[in-house]
Amino acid sequence: MGSGDFAVFDQGSQMRAIRRVIESIADTDVTVLLLGESGVGKDLVARAIHAASARHDGPFIKVNCAAIPPGLLESEFFGHEKGAFTGADRRKLGQFEYASKGTIYLDEIAELPLTLQAKLLHVLQDFRFARVGGDGVIDIDTRVIAATNRDLDQAMAHGEFREDLYYRLNVVEIRIPPLRERKDEIPNLASGFLARFNEQYGRNKRLSAEMLARLVEYSWSGNVRELENAIRRFVVLSDGEHAFETLVAGGRNGHPNGHPPVPRPALIVTESLREIARRGAREAERKALEDVLERVRWNRTEAARILKVSYKTLLTKIKDHGCSRSLPR
Ligand SMILES: Nc1ncnc2c1ncn2[C@@H]1O[C@H](COP(=O)(O)OP(=O)(O)O)[C@@H](O)[C@H]1O
Ligand SMILES: [Mg+2]
Repeated sequence: MGSGDFAVFDQGSQMRAIRRVIESIADTDVTVLLLGESGVGKDLVARAIHAASARHDGPFIKVNCAAIPPGLLESEFFGHEKGAFTGADRRKLGQFEYASKGTIYLDEIAELPLTLQAKLLHVLQDFRFARVGGDGVIDIDTRVIAATNRDLDQAMAHGEFREDLYYRLNVVEIRIPPLRERKDEIPNLASGFLARFNEQYGRNKRLSAEMLARLVEYSWSGNVRELENAIRRFVVLSDGEHAFETLVAGGRNGHPNGHPPVPRPALIVTESLREIARRGAREAERKALEDVLERVRWNRTEAARILKVSYKTLLTKIKDHGCSRSLPR
C-alpha cells in the first residue's frame, strides 16, 4: 500500500505504534481485536489493516452487531437456505460468505447474544459454517477483525461475554487510547479536519492559537469523532466561532470535575435566538438520550422504545452526540 494511506497514523507517538503493529501483521491472517471508546478510530484501524493486507483487493465487510435484531443475526452472519424459517422464501448469503477473500469486521462484538457468541466461536475454531437450514459446510476464507467499546473484562465477569470467544478473537489485541490521552495529536487532527472541511464547504476559516489551545485542553469524551464534528460545525456555521466557544466552554464532559459549567454570559447575548434555541434543543436531546440509556443499562432496543424512535435513529443519535457507555465505578 502507498504510505499516504497511513497518513492519519503519523500524528502522534501512540498512533505510530499502532501503525507499526498493523504493518507487522499485514501479511498474516491473524484475528484482531480492537478495543477503545467510541470515536477513537477503531473503524479506521480496521480498514487500515485490511488495506495493508494481501486481501486488500477483496471485500471489506462491516457488520454492526448492535444494529441487527438478535433474531436475525445468525442468518445475517451465515445466510440461510430457502425455507429455513417462516419468511425465508429464498436462499440468502450471509456476510461471512460476502467477505470471502476479504475481511469481515464485526463491530460492537460485545452486543452479540450468548447463543450467537457460541456459534461464532465454533465457526472460528473450525473455519467453516453452514447456512441456517442448510447442511453443506462452507469453508471460510476471511480475515476476522472484531471491535468493541465495552470493557470486556467486566462483560466476562458478568457472564455477558464468553471468555473462550475472547481468547479466540484477541490473537492480536490493539487498544486505541482515548483522545484525551493523546493530546499531542489534537493540533494535527484539528488542522487536518479544518483543511478538509474548508475545502469541502468552500470556506476559509482559521483557528487562532487561543482556540487551538482550548481544543488541546478540552477532554473530548466523544474522541476524534467529536473533534471532527466540532471543526465541521465551526467551518459550516456562519457564527461558527460561537458554536465553537460554546462547545469548548460547555458540555458536561469538558470539565474535569464533571459539573456543568456556568455559561458565559457574553457569549449568550451575542448569539441569535435561533442559535440559542437550536443549541438548547440539542442539549436537551443529548441529556434525554443519556438518561434513558443509563436507566436501561444501554439496552438500545428498550431505549428506542421509550424514546419512540426507530432503532436505527437511536443509533444515529448516539453516534451524533458521541454518547458512550461509561464504565461503572
Ligand atoms: N487518526 C485519525 N485521523 C483522522 N480522522 C480520524 C482519526 N481517527 C478517527 N478519525 C475519524 O473520527 C471518526 C470516528 O472514527 P471511527 O473509526 O469511526 O471510530 P470508532 O469506530 O472507534 O467509533 C471518523 O470520522 C474517523 O474518520
Ligand atoms: Mg466504529
